[in-house]
Amino acid sequence: MKILFIGDVVGSPGRDMLKENLPKLKNKYNPNITIVNGENAAHGKGITEKIYRQFLEWGANVITLGNHAWDKKEIFEFIDDAPHMIRPANFPKGTPGKGMTFFKAGKHELAVINAQGRTFLPPLDDPFRILDELVVEAKKRTPFVFVDFHAEATSEKQAIGWYLDGRVGSVVGTHTHVQTADERILPKGTAYISDVGMTGPYDGILGVQKENVIKRFLTNLPVRFEVPSEGRAQLSGVIIDLDDSTGLAKNISRILINDDHPFFS
Ligand SMILES: [Fe+2]
Ligand SMILES: [Fe+2]
Repeated sequence: MKILFIGDVVGSPGRDMLKENLPKLKNKYNPNITIVNGENAAHGKGITEKIYRQFLEWGANVITLGNHAWDKKEIFEFIDDAPHMIRPANFPKGTPGKGMTFFKAGKHELAVINAQGRTFLPPLDDPFRILDELVVEAKKRTPFVFVDFHAEATSEKQAIGWYLDGRVGSVVGTHTHVQTADERILPKGTAYISDVGMTGPYDGILGVQKENVIKRFLTNLPVRFEVPSEGRAQLSGVIIDLDDSTGLAKNISRILINDDHPFFS
C-alpha cells in the first residue's frame, strides 16, 4: 500500500499548490490513499466546510488537523458530518469530531490516527496512552495504521515514533512547518519523519508574511499574522510504501517542491 501525505496546507497559496500538484504527484507515485493536513487551510487558521469538500474533490481521501482545528468556528457545525476528517484524538472526551478514521484503499483498509503533542503546546490528554488504545482498536480491523503526530518538540515526536515502532506502519510529524531530513524506517518497521513540512508561502516565515513576524521579534508588541496571498509557494510531503502482508514500511521518501527544488515527473 502506498500512502501520499501532504503537510500543513497554509491559506490560498497552499491550497493552490495542492490543487496544481496533487494530480502530478498521483501520476508519479500512484498512491492508494492521499492524506492532507488541513489545520491551516483557511487563511492559516483552521478549515471551512467548503475547503474540506474541495480537498476531497481534488483527490485527498482523509484530512487531518492539529492545534488550529477550532480556529474557524463553523467547524463545530460540520465536523461531525465530515467522515473523512479527523482532529487530534487526545482532546478531552466529549470534544466534537473524532481522532481516528478508516479508509478503504484498494483491497486493504488504512486506519488514520491524528494525535497532538503536549510539549510547548496546550495541555491535552496523554497522547502515548491514547495511541496505545487506538492502535489496539485499529488493529482489530486492519494491519495498516498511519499516525499524524502534530507536535512542536522533536524529542516528543521521536519518542512517539520509537514508542510505536513495529506497531504501526507510519508515524509522520506535522506542525513545525519546516521539513526535517530524518526520514527513516525504524528497526521494527515503522516509517518515521519528525516533520513533513508545510504547503504554502515559500517566502514567509512558517507560511506567515515575514514583515510582521520580524516586527514582533523586534518590538515584542502584538502584531497581526497574515498569510500572503501572492508570491512563491511550496509543497511538502512524503510517500510511504507499506508491505501488503505485514502493514509495516518498506520505504519513505520526502517530497519538497519549490523554486529551489523543482518537481520532476
Ligand atoms: Fe500547521
Ligand atoms: Fe499546528
